[in-house]
Amino acid sequence: MSKGRTRRDKAVKQQYEQLPYPPRDPEEERTRLITGSPSQLVEVNHYLFNGARDFSKPFRALVAGGGTGDAVIMLAQQLADYGPHGTVTYIDLSSASRAVVEKRAEVRGLDNIEYHTASLLDLPEMGLEPFDYIDCCGVLHHLEHPEEGLAALTSVLKEGGGMGLMLYATLGRTGVYHVQRALKALVGDQDLTEQLSIGKKLVAGLPKTNWLVRNPFVGDHKMGADAAFFDLLLHPRDRSYLVPEIEEFLTSADLEPVAFIEPLKYDPANFIKDKDVLKRIKTLTTMQKAALAENLSGSLKTHIFYVKKRSAGASTIATIAPSMVPVLADRVPPKVFAQTLKSKKEFAISFDGEEVLLPVPLKADQIVAMIDGEKTLAQIQQEMSLPWDQFRSVFAPCFKFLSSLNILWLRQGS
Ligand SMILES: C[S@@+](CC[C@H](N)C(=O)[O-])C[C@H]1O[C@@H](n2cnc3c(N)ncnc32)[C@H](O)[C@@H]1O
Repeated sequence: MSKGRTRRDKAVKQQYEQLPYPPRDPEEERTRLITGSPSQLVEVNHYLFNGARDFSKPFRALVAGGGTGDAVIMLAQQLADYGPHGTVTYIDLSSASRAVVEKRAEVRGLDNIEYHTASLLDLPEMGLEPFDYIDCCGVLHHLEHPEEGLAALTSVLKEGGGMGLMLYATLGRTGVYHVQRALKALVGDQDLTEQLSIGKKLVAGLPKTNWLVRNPFVGDHKMGADAAFFDLLLHPRDRSYLVPEIEEFLTSADLEPVAFIEPLKYDPANFIKDKDVLKRIKTLTTMQKAALAENLSGSLKTHIFYVKKRSAGASTIATIAPSMVPVLADRVPPKVFAQTLKSKKEFAISFDGEEVLLPVPLKADQIVAMIDGEKTLAQIQQEMSLPWDQFRSVFAPCFKFLSSLNILWLRQGS
């Protein structure tokens, strides 16, 4: 099989050498850390290690197709905050992108990153120690044979480890491939500057009927950054996936899905109002529900999900127990959020413009107000003066509500 040697492969490398993506200014590391899904450690721990992983002990992460470094820098910083034993390995085709990451790491004073300028297809032969965790976002769908890439990643994953992946989703990208095909026909063989110039002119004059123009979910080409315009509309090669295609893709490498992020977006009940229709979804499997939700919402542009080896067996998702510590997302201040939930029966959340009303579980405000990322569930239970079983029955719906929004995770208390 080909390994980074076709004309298209060369074009992919050339794109990211000339237009590292996403564009990042290393100086901004002085003022903020970019965090997100997948790969924030608390989330990785929750979904892949039953919340029981101690990151102060050795932990090996790989970021494959790390680009300009968002995941590498987040993982390296979060591991460094736990101590000196966590390391991150970065691999990418583009030396220009790597230069951005190295500068970002330097600004932060991070020295726990190992760099490789190579194809992830070469991983099996690189002689690297296997990894506990692999992040690969927005990369596999650019390969000639994405299955080869997934197999290469799996070959360096520890038995009990897992991956956080992002692949393009088909429906939310409606219109992207129409314009990509039009531009390939017009300027596919031209240099990058000419492609950009003609591409912008074509897009500026698209008719109102064009599906990209009619798609309110895609906006990267309007941001003003050449790298983003090119990545979306002039990419030499990309494909997108529907949920069942992801399942098939994972099966090819003996992997299985653990969870889609945010879980709520993959619950079709949010997009069905009629009770007779709702009844019909009761018997569906989790993946069938996810596939249905994707078809109903129509707005998913990417699929973010955690996977593990099929052979690893048992569930890796953290579950409720007295010794577990609930941790809220940094962006959710407990007191303020508790106030928002107080005396509300329903909580409104917008899915790309579609408003969904979620029932607020009983005592959700009280529980949220007590979550500080340190207290165990047993301590919160005591503060609420409830016997464990009673506390559990109050906490469980709360946990479901907050984790479906991907703002609450569990970790094992020390
Ligand atoms: C869209 S960017 C995503 C970067 C990063 N993962 C992120 O989410 O911000 C895709 C990156 O994958 C890299 N890439 C593409 N094919 C690759 C391959 N076969 N091996 C390693 N890196 C690759 C590109 O050079 C580029 O930096």
